Amino acid sequence: MLLRILLIVLLATSLFSTSCQGKKKIGKPKKHGNNVKKKPHTNAIIDIQDFGAKGDGLSDDTQAFIKAWDKACKAENGVLLIPRHKIYYIGPIKFHGPCKKGLRMMINGELRASKDLSDYNEDRRHWLLFQNMENFVVEGVGSIDGNGHVWWIRSCKVDKTIAMTFYNCTNLIVRNLELKNPQKMHLTITKSKLVEVSRLKITAPADSPNTDGIHVSGTKNIDIHHSYIGTGDDCISIVSGSTNVRARYIHCGPGHGISIGSLGKNKEEDTVSNIYVHDATLRGTTNGLRIKSWQGGRGYAKDILFQDIDMVNVTNPIIIDQFYCDQDKPCKEQRAAPVRRCETLALDGFRWGRGRPKKYWREVIRYDMEQLQLTEDVTLDRKVWRKWIRVEG
Ligand SMILES: *[C@@H]1O[C@H](CO)[C@@H](O)[C@H](O)[C@H]1NC(C)=O
Ligand SMILES: *[C@@H]1O[C@H](CO)[C@@H](O)[C@H](O)[C@H]1NC(C)=O
Repeated sequence: MLLRILLIVLLATSLFSTSCQGKKKIGKPKKHGNNVKKKPHTNAIIDIQDFGAKGDGLSDDTQAFIKAWDKACKAENGVLLIPRHKIYYIGPIKFHGPCKKGLRMMINGELRASKDLSDYNEDRRHWLLFQNMENFVVEGVGSIDGNGHVWWIRSCKVDKTIAMTFYNCTNLIVRNLELKNPQKMHLTITKSKLVEVSRLKITAPADSPNTDGIHVSGTKNIDIHHSYIGTGDDCISIVSGSTNVRARYIHCGPGHGISIGSLGKNKEEDTVSNIYVHDATLRGTTNGLRIKSWQGGRGYAKDILFQDIDMVNVTNPIIIDQFYCDQDKPCKEQRAAPVRRCETLALDGFRWGRGRPKKYWREVIRYDMEQLQLTEDVTLDRKVWRKWIRVEG
């Protein structure tokens, strides 16, 4: 079935603030009125080749990266250069901050993950981990290849490695890079603030497990834009503690679509708010827009606006699933437990045939609408929502 759907989905009452506070400040040098003519700082170029890296795609270049990072981190306005036309085969690396200000990492060649699983024994969860960085830029024309094939064949529930993680970073820019074939997720931004992610190309096969594109967790003020994301799992996933998340001009597909959650696993309290997704295209994804929460958890997903989303060949355009279950044995129904809140959820303006909204929603919301209506936390207010849906084919 070919669906072309243009829709506006509004959850909750309050308006989303459309700009990420401070976003504009990212990466721009501070201007002082009295020294405008001052020459720009000279950059200290730290070339990975000077630290014994071979870049032949076979030799283990991990130590060269560790040494070069150490140097670059201590240099004012340092640029860690990974030259073009080289492939650096590396195991897990922790790029720790804080560093001197103005550090940039220019990835023009390729970083390729070690296929030797024993290399990951010390920290199973991270391959490239950037931690405690401030005013940091990662960019370049190069690529990051997680060599995921050796991981995908393993059971999908064993601990797997995230290709690129940013943890506790402030004023972070990640741009232009290509990320592919991660062990698990491509890129996660965790417990960070003031982040701009743009012009990424993210690809993994449609059947590669858990290869989410961009995973945002516990992060405030993040703007993700102009990126192409085709993977085997969520295009963008936004989970607990994230607020002021904007995603725009994103192309997704294949994959599982854009999702909020899952929230409230193991009865945890999770909150997600101020999410603004607009001008996105989803093509050939299993889901479109999804909010998923486990039974029994607490918290909320609120102030969410999906606007101008184009869907083509999407199996489940909208899923609001408050009975999410993603484990081998079925989750026990917990009807008595408080259902998670999607605050003031409202629908309006279905134009797909007269008198059919209910039927339509039964098709798009996988867990049927009656269920949703029955929960105290969710109201369906058809006056508030504006929706325009066009179906072709
Ligand atoms: C986060 O990073 C900053 C430096 O940017 C550091 O001072 C702080 O201690 C870090 N916080 C945690 C929880 O690691
Ligand atoms: C629809 O998407 C699926 C993957 O989800 C793909 O296999 C199929 O070829 C697509 N169909 C069309 C008509 O594009």
